[in-house]
Amino acid sequence: MTREDVTSSASGSRIPESETYERVTVSSVPVSREARVSKTQVVGVDASSLDRLLVATCNLPVADGEVAVVEYTVRALGDIFQECAVGACLVPAPPPASGPSLGPIEQRVFKSLPHGEEHRVGPPDPTRLFPAYAYERVISAGPQGSTLHFASDDPRLDDDDSALMHVAQRAGLVLGHGLALAGMHAKATSDARDLRALNSHMVQAEKLASLGQIAAGVVHELNNPLTSIVAYTDWLLRKAGPQGEPDSVERLRRIGESASRILRFTRDLVAYARPSSEVPVPVAIHNVIDQALAFCEHVLAEHGAKVERAYADAIPPVRGMPEQLAQVFVNLFTNACHAMPDSGGELVVSTRVSADARTIEVTVEDNGHGIPLDHQAQIFTPFFTTKADGRGTGLGLSIVKNIVDGHEGDIHVERRASGGTRFVLAFPVP
Ligand SMILES: Nc1ncnc2c1ncn2[C@@H]1O[C@H](COP(=O)(O)OP(=O)(O)OP(=O)(O)O)[C@@H](O)[C@H]1O
Ligand SMILES: [Mg+2]
Repeated sequence: MTREDVTSSASGSRIPESETYERVTVSSVPVSREARVSKTQVVGVDASSLDRLLVATCNLPVADGEVAVVEYTVRALGDIFQECAVGACLVPAPPPASGPSLGPIEQRVFKSLPHGEEHRVGPPDPTRLFPAYAYERVISAGPQGSTLHFASDDPRLDDDDSALMHVAQRAGLVLGHGLALAGMHAKATSDARDLRALNSHMVQAEKLASLGQIAAGVVHELNNPLTSIVAYTDWLLRKAGPQGEPDSVERLRRIGESASRILRFTRDLVAYARPSSEVPVPVAIHNVIDQALAFCEHVLAEHGAKVERAYADAIPPVRGMPEQLAQVFVNLFTNACHAMPDSGGELVVSTRVSADARTIEVTVEDNGHGIPLDHQAQIFTPFFTTKADGRGTGLGLSIVKNIVDGHEGDIHVERRASGGTRFVLAFPVP
């Protein structure tokens, strides 16, 4: 063996031009059994290599993810092939659908150099991790396109039939298998997490459903005493007649009015909560919006919301189920209130007929904290909520979307330039 300086012309196209590398040349030897043995020893592969690879295979840290698998494999192979440079280029598996979006998938490079060796590392190039060596073999590992790299100055690295290449091919399989297992482990872990979250959401939804049933019972119980209050105040007012003491008459009138309001509200609430057996009828959309605003009176007052109705004249009726449509607006108004600033909320509801007269558009705008862009795609998904535990189940907008779809309508969300959120709904003109 002689050491000499070789240039790109001497070592073929794989060495970048104008760079000089020191390499080992080996005079050609006949491929006999003895020669093979001595050749494998040159590149550091011996009879125990496969055993050591097997041990490494059993210890792959698949539970720690793809990066850990690659780092471990490269380190283990570096120990086995002590005379070679070993590297890997990892193309990570895409994250599970429900996981965070990582943006473009990046390749990552891991290297292990022969012990005690120092050399220049060339520019990052996934097809050639070790430009300082004359020979580099790239073995595909993993379905994403990850690769395993072996580099050396020994030209027998080019020999497909060498013991080194046999072990290297198996190492490629081991890495590919490890990456697949790490991907499956990550997916199983994320599925289990999703299932746990879904389960706790279902428990929460069931709690709310039973709360709804209790509320319906309470409303039913309130009905009789309220009816009595309304009837007796009416009787007292009639008894007092025009000669009644004005202050007392005024107080009686207020009692009667308030009791009637509660009575109306409880009856509406029961009608609203009852499972719908509605059939489509022509619906005056302004009446439905007004009814929903009345339902939300309490939550609007709690958030100091100023309500502006910008209704267009001569809106044709929508064909639909009035109770379901009321539910759409109750959910939108409630969400708007929850987002409003303490300094005072604004809610604007506008209606119009589209320019081509084919759809009726309703917009619901608020001056709340708005919806971040990366949440906008998720808000209609069941159980998506940003509200603290117990304040929201994340079902409201998914119900809204279902109802709007059932009316062959469309709903989308926009960011208001002045801050806040705008929901735009469109229903077909029948
Ligand atoms: N007007 C709005 N302004 C700001 N964020 C909103 C608005 N409407 C909806 N959101 C966001 O969308 C999420 C989903 O709304 P959705 O109505 O589906 O569920 P929720 O209000 O959290 O719970 P609930 O099931 O009680 O309605 C909310 O948690 C909130 O982050
Ligand atoms: Mg909601």
